[in-house]
Amino acid sequence: MNADLRSGSIGFVGAGALGSTLARAMQHAGHHLTSVASRTTTSAERLASSIDGCEAVTVQDVADRCGVVFLTVPDSAILDVASATQWRSGQVVIHCSGASPLSILDSANRGGALIGAFHPLQTFGGSDGSPNIMRDIAYAVEAESPLREELETLANDLGGWPIALAAEDRILYHASAIAACGLLATLVKLSADLWSDFGQGSDAGLRSLLPLVRSTLDGIERRGFPEVLTGPMVRGDVATMQSHINALAARAPAFQPIYSHLALASLPIARDKGGLSAKEEQQLRELLTNSLQTTGNEK
Ligand SMILES: NC(=O)c1ccc[n+]([C@@H]2O[C@H](COP(=O)([O-])OP(=O)(O)OC[C@H]3O[C@@H](n4cnc5c(N)ncnc54)[C@H](OP(=O)(O)O)[C@@H]3O)[C@@H](O)[C@H]2O)c1
Repeated sequence: MNADLRSGSIGFVGAGALGSTLARAMQHAGHHLTSVASRTTTSAERLASSIDGCEAVTVQDVADRCGVVFLTVPDSAILDVASATQWRSGQVVIHCSGASPLSILDSANRGGALIGAFHPLQTFGGSDGSPNIMRDIAYAVEAESPLREELETLANDLGGWPIALAAEDRILYHASAIAACGLLATLVKLSADLWSDFGQGSDAGLRSLLPLVRSTLDGIERRGFPEVLTGPMVRGDVATMQSHINALAARAPAFQPIYSHLALASLPIARDKGGLSAKEEQQLRELLTNSLQTTGNEK
């Protein structure tokens, strides 16, 4: 079996947001990319033309030519692509999905291939992403040894760090990623949309809130929790929190329970920071819990 990612020729199936960025980052890191396939030849040719010595071919050609194949197709297509392709003994087949189990590659495994999962904990918006966004990030690795060690080395080669992921932890890991990325983005959008309710418009809201979001993320990195947390929850300002709940219930009722749930989750952090008395914490907890019950009763 050959699990050596450095000496083998590497191919990609799926020339989209992640596949294009990862392929180019691997080439920068000194890996030998030779073949790419995609659903459309346009995508495959676009990626192949950006990598010296790389050719756009069919999916089966990628499997026939390459010792290591990354399946960077949408999660919903991984099973079908893996099942429709002929694999051979000693080959390596890897998917990059955060949520899909390794068993989605069982057909490749039955064909004699070593299988693994390699998930960059990053968000990719388009096929023109700079390889630099692959640096300084975590890569979740799931595979049997010796492929596991090879994928851990790949994470280091790309300028990131590996984390070992057990099969049973994969979904929780992925939920964490979605909360910190997509749900954070949604929270910022909902916050900006409130500006429409006082006549400024959500675009103005977004532009004005973004510096606050950036300072908060910067504060999380530099000062960490609980120091980064600010606001009326930390000061034990029950009256201000009550006025927020009242205003949201009247003018943005769909957002009010989200606000109350997050404020409740903030209380233990506020307590750890200090400055919030036990009495104030209790009053805030009652206020927020009652606001959620009221919302529930109105449904
Ligand atoms: N995007 C992210 O932020 C991110 C982050 C971490 C992990 N991932 C994982 O990366 C994988 C790819 O996601 P993505 O966001 O890069 O998706 P994407 O931008 O939609 O790209 C998917 C690519 O797969 C190709 N494709 C679709 N069906 C195919 C098939 N049956 N055969 C061959 N090629 C096919 C598409 O081809 P055409 O372009 O030719 O239509 C497209 O280029 C997924 O497993 C995802 O979970 C994504």
